[in-house]
Amino acid sequence: MATIGFIGSGNIGSTLARLAVDADHDVVLSNSRGPETLRDLVARLGPRARAATPAEAAAVGDLVVVTIPIKAYRQVPTEPLQGKVVIDTLNYDPARQGHVPEIDAHPTPAHLLLQTHLTGSHVVKAFSNIFFKHLATLGRPSGAPDRSALPIAGDDATAKRAVAALIDSLGYDAYDAGPLAESRRFAPGTPAHHAYLDPAGMFAAPGRPASADDLAKLLSA
Ligand SMILES: NC(=O)c1ccc[n+]([C@@H]2O[C@H](COP(=O)([O-])OP(=O)(O)OC[C@H]3O[C@@H](n4cnc5c(N)ncnc54)[C@H](OP(=O)(O)O)[C@@H]3O)[C@@H](O)[C@H]2O)c1
Repeated sequence: MATIGFIGSGNIGSTLARLAVDADHDVVLSNSRGPETLRDLVARLGPRARAATPAEAAAVGDLVVVTIPIKAYRQVPTEPLQGKVVIDTLNYDPARQGHVPEIDAHPTPAHLLLQTHLTGSHVVKAFSNIFFKHLATLGRPSGAPDRSALPIAGDDATAKRAVAALIDSLGYDAYDAGPLAESRRFAPGTPAHHAYLDPAGMFAAPGRPASADDLAKLLSA
């Protein structure tokens, strides 16, 4: 079992924290407003959860999930994340989250932005193409016929193995989509970004399971 640090504890962060606690991991949550604002969430998650500052969550996590609005990426602490595996869930949605000039000016694609900030960390893109309500409901035990696969992309094989093991413990298969740059294949606007949406129900929970084969077809579409 691992300690998972969270920088960001909103829709995706709190959903992942619930899955992690249910899988007997410890979680250390943080946000921009301070640990005291996470008291209710920590109480709901139980004794495996606690709140901290972003720097402390980064320091104590065996793996650290960064799941904040992308425009805040420069505020992610770099020093405590040196050498660590960092899971990047970030998407660029300027209409809802505001513009990021360095993305709009095109020097850095949105899917690579966090790695350019965390140069000393092993960033693995994951959980970026699943709606948080579907993430909460589509998990299944290993071997279940309707278990879904989640794509991961990163440049470090050891880091990807660690993230794949975490994903397996949370009820999903990990599908290796290749180096971090290949996360463009499940970024917003791609077919794979909507892999778990039921065409009839759209964002209505519980979503639609997608196997590794389903994902492979969508990623190459
Ligand atoms: N929603 C989805 O279903 C979904 C799916 C896939 C990927 N994503 C991506 O995942 C990321 C998170 O999405 P979300 O829906 O979970 O967002 P959200 O519900 O708005 O939560 C954002 C979290 O980030 C925290 N935060 C903001 N600035 C911070 C900072 N500088 N340092 C530390 N924490 C900070 C917020 O804390 P405060 O409230 O204290 O500011 C909040 O806990 C986004 O990039 C989004 O594009 C979302």
